[in-house]
Amino acid sequence: MQKKNTKLNVRLSKDVVPVKYDIKLHPDLENFTFTGEEIITINIAKETKEITLHCKEIEINTVRLNKDFANKIKYDQKKETVTFVFPKKIPKSKHTLVINFKGILNDKMRGFYRSSYIYEGKVHNIATTQFEATDARRAFPCFDEPAQKAVFHVSLVVPKGKTAISNTLPISKIEHEAGFEVVKFSPTPKMSTYLLAFIVGDFEFIEKKSKRGVIVRVYTTPGKIHQAKFSLDTTVKVLDFYEEYFDIKYPLNTLDVIAIPDFSSGAMENWGAITYRESAILVDDMHSSLASKQWVALVIAHELAHQWFGNLVTMEWWTHLWLNEGFASYIEYLATDKLFPKWDIWTQFATADLGIALRLDSLANTHPIEIPVYHPDEIGEIFDEISYSKGASIIRMLADYLGEKNFRDGLRYYLKKHSYKNTKTIHLWQAFEKISKKPVSKMMHNWTSKSGYPVIKASLSKNKLQLSQSRFFSSPISKLKSKDKTLWQVPISLGTPSTKSQKILLDKKQTKVSYSKGNKINISESGFFRTAYSKELLVDLYSLILEKKFEPIDRLGIIRDLFALSEAGIIPTTNALEFLSAYKNEDNYTVWVEIASGLSKIEQVLLNKKIEPEFNKLIVELFTPIWKKLGWEKKENENHTDSLLRSLVISRLGHAGHEQINKEVTKMFNDVQKGKHINPDLKGVVYNLTSFQGGKKEYKTLISMYKKETLHEEKNRIGGALGNFKNEKILCEVVEFAMSENVRVQDTIGILSSIALNSAGRSVWLKALQYHWPTFLTHYGDGGHSLGRMVKAIWNTPETKHLTYLKKFFTTHKAPGATRSLEQVYERIESNALWQKRDAKSIEKFLKKN
Ligand code: BES
Ligand code: ZN
Repeated sequence: MQKKNTKLNVRLSKDVVPVKYDIKLHPDLENFTFTGEEIITINIAKETKEITLHCKEIEINTVRLNKDFANKIKYDQKKETVTFVFPKKIPKSKHTLVINFKGILNDKMRGFYRSSYIYEGKVHNIATTQFEATDARRAFPCFDEPAQKAVFHVSLVVPKGKTAISNTLPISKIEHEAGFEVVKFSPTPKMSTYLLAFIVGDFEFIEKKSKRGVIVRVYTTPGKIHQAKFSLDTTVKVLDFYEEYFDIKYPLNTLDVIAIPDFSSGAMENWGAITYRESAILVDDMHSSLASKQWVALVIAHELAHQWFGNLVTMEWWTHLWLNEGFASYIEYLATDKLFPKWDIWTQFATADLGIALRLDSLANTHPIEIPVYHPDEIGEIFDEISYSKGASIIRMLADYLGEKNFRDGLRYYLKKHSYKNTKTIHLWQAFEKISKKPVSKMMHNWTSKSGYPVIKASLSKNKLQLSQSRFFSSPISKLKSKDKTLWQVPISLGTPSTKSQKILLDKKQTKVSYSKGNKINISESGFFRTAYSKELLVDLYSLILEKKFEPIDRLGIIRDLFALSEAGIIPTTNALEFLSAYKNEDNYTVWVEIASGLSKIEQVLLNKKIEPEFNKLIVELFTPIWKKLGWEKKENENHTDSLLRSLVISRLGHAGHEQINKEVTKMFNDVQKGKHINPDLKGVVYNLTSFQGGKKEYKTLISMYKKETLHEEKNRIGGALGNFKNEKILCEVVEFAMSENVRVQDTIGILSSIALNSAGRSVWLKALQYHWPTFLTHYGDGGHSLGRMVKAIWNTPETKHLTYLKKFFTTHKAPGATRSLEQVYERIESNALWQKRDAKSIEKFLKKN
């Protein structure tokens, strides 16, 4: 299958180095093509007759080196390169390479592509770009590797009156042939190809200056500019924050933010011209939920962080992608916390990133943070939770170990030392080492070079606390097969609510430390590991949780690890369920997120219809006290997280069949139909519960709402609810709707995933996968991370028949960029089935007894 491409060496020769590109592109927004010419100034370090650069789906008309035309143009489609052969040997020195070419504005959301929207009843087109990781080569022949930095002089030929945006400000606009003008942009800083951007279309914008006078503008398609205010304010504040924090001025004089109607990921950090999908940047004062607003702030903080970490200092090769993504995924919280201190965003990190990473990295089919990659498919594959969330989590662990000041100063040192250059992981460690004088490289080595992480077993031995480490696997089958003896250097802090925490570095298999009653291990969950307490240690923690003596993040960590240990077969699941009663006074949003997610896994994997009533009873008992506190109505000046918590609690209770709640939901859904305004924080749960209880009528209503809606966030809320119906026939219609032209290709996967997450929808989803696979391949099948995200939606099923179905299908069908994801799905389903076999009976007994 796809493995054939693996290790195909696609790296370019280091003897030909670009210095400067003069690129002129002329997109045709009606016929979806473009023509281009470029002059690349190159340095040749070793005499040669051939020059190879990247090129994909581009037709080259003429090539000239200085005065000599190329004899031959050889395309290599597999390697995505083109080689020019010249009549004479080219001597070592500086040369100019002049290339004329044409290409297509494709519909794949990659390279130079087209997007469209309807305004005032008419379809309008946009030409825009998405180059990371390896798609600049679809827009112009180039040396498309992150370490081949150069200065770019961009010109765009556009219909007069259209907005043309690139990384820098226009320096001139010159009349071209009839109706066109040439917009010339000032030279970019020295940078990598994947950060370049061109956008042409009709846009509105609002603008504001940063403290230092950088002009920040947010662009939307016509009619949406009122949704841009929050992101403009946030972008300016985050920019000011980072300039101060990194102690380096943002090097451009403008920062453009552009909302693009069709966009494959969430956002892209093009230097000075950051592009977003609409739901990641547009906020409507009246109709947006706080959860959306929070998401938008995090995404902005993430992409702006890249302007330094990624754009100014760039990874040498994709093996070190995590430097970009892990770091940005960490620092986005720091910035958001500075701007919105009441959001309790760091606690949320524990579920949104740390929790996600611990989960994926507990599979045998995970990968080390640093991993050799060659082919674009392999590169696309690593934009995953390991690079992002594990990366962020080990940075956080290190930040905690170094202390705030050392951490910040280390970053400043690193960014200044390597500005406009490229780095590997080791360079970051060296910077921290220099500033902190601590052995950072040694400590961090296994965290980035090895797969997985340890579980720390804690027990009492002669009044001492004995700690030992071994790799954690969520699947007992994987553990059995593994011979992994990795030992990590684990910074562990432990403490009780009344004693200061003690910090140790566990650098061997086991150790003993002094013990105080009620010791919690991994204070603030700052370490990237799980803890398995012996029974007697756990008993001591029970009452401290009940009385909420620990911080929320610590309360959360304990129950999360208990759920994970159950899944791994280290403790019986009923132990975790018993411990849950310690959380009856719980009032923190994020802790509840963790509890709800643990229970929903148990529900999905272990339960059968027979004991549903007992399980629902448990849910109702658990969530009722907090529900009584919160009520339906948002209180004046209520905590941000209480607003988030309300919808979670309603959702859990509604799904458990709480009559009063479901009645009220029906009423609210009717209110929405009547055009009444309802609290946007509750809209998502109202739609979800409506489809959960609903039938054909509700389906029709949701569909017509989806079609009419212009706020993208609201479209997503409705789309996410569509997968919750219990009736398979309706779910089949949902599939067809998701595949129809009513749904943008970027949003299809989200709707389909909601079907896979619904236990009544799994068979429908699997059939849809098979039936529509050819279409998925055309939309998402050219590498990238989309197919991987898609197949993972099914991995909560415990049914081996689903596993058999998937394996059979994928032995005969290619899944480019999703090879590892599929292995992960198989491993998880196998483990789910085993978990069910092991624990379903005892859970049933437990539920019946309580
Ligand atoms: N650099 C990425 C965009 C990207 C993602 C390019 C995948 C190529 C492949 C960007 O900085 C990013 O990480 N975006 C995230 C959102 C972020 C807040 C986690 C995304 O798009 O999911
Ligand atoms: Zn990123």
